[in-house]
Amino acid sequence: MLGNDDWWRDAVVYQVYPRSFADADGDGTGDLAGVRDRLGYLSELGVDAIWLSPFYTSPMADGGYDVADYRDVDPMFGSLADFDALVADAHARDIRVIVDLVPNHSSDRHPWFQAGLRERYIFRDKPNDWESIFGGPAWTQVEDGSWYLHLFAPEQPDLNWDNPEVRAEFRGILRFWLDRGVDGFRIDVAHGMVKAEGLPDVGQKDGPQAEMLGDEQVPYFDQDGVHEIYREWRPILDSYPGGRMAVAEAWVSSPERLARYIGPQELHQAFNFEFMMADFHAKSFRAVIEKSLKEAELVGAPTTWVLSNHDKPRHVTRHGGLARARAATLLMLALPGSAYLYNGEELGLPEVLDLPDELRQDPAFLRRGQSRDGCRVPLPWTSADGLGWRDPWLPIPAEWAELSAEAQQDDPGSTLNLYRAALKLRKRHPALGGGTLRWLDSPKDVLAIERDPGLIVVLNTGEEPARVDLPGEVLLSSGPLMEDGVIPPDTTVWLQR
Ligand code: GLC
Repeated sequence: MLGNDDWWRDAVVYQVYPRSFADADGDGTGDLAGVRDRLGYLSELGVDAIWLSPFYTSPMADGGYDVADYRDVDPMFGSLADFDALVADAHARDIRVIVDLVPNHSSDRHPWFQAGLRERYIFRDKPNDWESIFGGPAWTQVEDGSWYLHLFAPEQPDLNWDNPEVRAEFRGILRFWLDRGVDGFRIDVAHGMVKAEGLPDVGQKDGPQAEMLGDEQVPYFDQDGVHEIYREWRPILDSYPGGRMAVAEAWVSSPERLARYIGPQELHQAFNFEFMMADFHAKSFRAVIEKSLKEAELVGAPTTWVLSNHDKPRHVTRHGGLARARAATLLMLALPGSAYLYNGEELGLPEVLDLPDELRQDPAFLRRGQSRDGCRVPLPWTSADGLGWRDPWLPIPAEWAELSAEAQQDDPGSTLNLYRAALKLRKRHPALGGGTLRWLDSPKDVLAIERDPGLIVVLNTGEEPARVDLPGEVLLSSGPLMEDGVIPPDTTVWLQR
């Protein structure tokens, strides 16, 4: 069944954070064999693809986004043979595999950095005023007095993309994974890599520069030169059969800037993070959806929708409870484009807010007191002691026994079964992920859209039940309904006219 080159346009992609997903060897850290063991679960869930966050050789200074060998699997996650077996089994189940590519920086344990190959990194005699995204200066001094640039942690030195050897190496890395059968790449910090000539000062201190500057570009992000790299990569992707794709993680100042990353010469997609940032309110959702659709038109490729990932607090907590999270999910899964799910959201997991500080591992916590560990807690598989884990790398809250995959498996009202039902309907009604979208008149605090003729999606974000005059058979609803035509607060309904 694989073979449709445009598969990514309306795909439901499930992000696996390998360390936290499933642990086959019982050492407390998830692994590739664990993912392989759960392909049945993923297939029953109904996803079209998985995206694996980094599993490469890494000292784990940033959860694997610090890569020491781009062509190997860290022993903690398994081996290349495990990877090959995972890809083969996933494909046998019609599940595609996307891997994470981290080109902006390597680990300081990468052989190039270890061997002192300075021209492949960014060394200077004096630092400029750039700040690390994780807080503090973006420069670290080495023994001989010179400084190297790291936009993230000091263990993540930025690569020098002016150096043709760096470019050649990454073309080789792309081919290496394409040859192993991957269907696509998620490009980490896709707006980084190229820095403004001469590394000019930003001229602004105090607080994360990239956030403070708003629409103005900082000299280390979204520089024109980065597009040259994608124009080199695209022919490589296109030279392989079966629709190999790339999706950019690019934080840029406007939809127009984002659009420049996408198209037949560059990348296929870019994450649309605005939907993830929107408040749980009909007005905010509508504004973001309208903007995103305009942007999609601009680039001639459908947009992506995301509610949670490994960098942001889980949407159950962000939106204020499970009912709202379920409602937001049913909205997302009925929008045109592809949807990216983050492992554990199908179980309705909340953010873990009370991890003891000494267990937190996110480098951002050490540098600026903000931690992304709360969304990276391992998934509860069973309700028995340990919840399917022996000594997990982060403790799993005991009350997650009720949220375990096992506990939800046969409960028709569970979040797991809501996701399964939604993905099944999405397959049955391709208009849900593709097709057109029309806004319908609706009361205040209610969002009503028609997807292709006949499929209606209604979300009530208000505090009172809303009466809507939209006849149709209920296909699915995110929560219990009252009488016909009345949508309770924090609920989304899919109707068939
Ligand atoms: C991306 C990743 C994040 C990582 C950073 C540095 O933003 O999503 O987890 O810390 O890049 O690689």
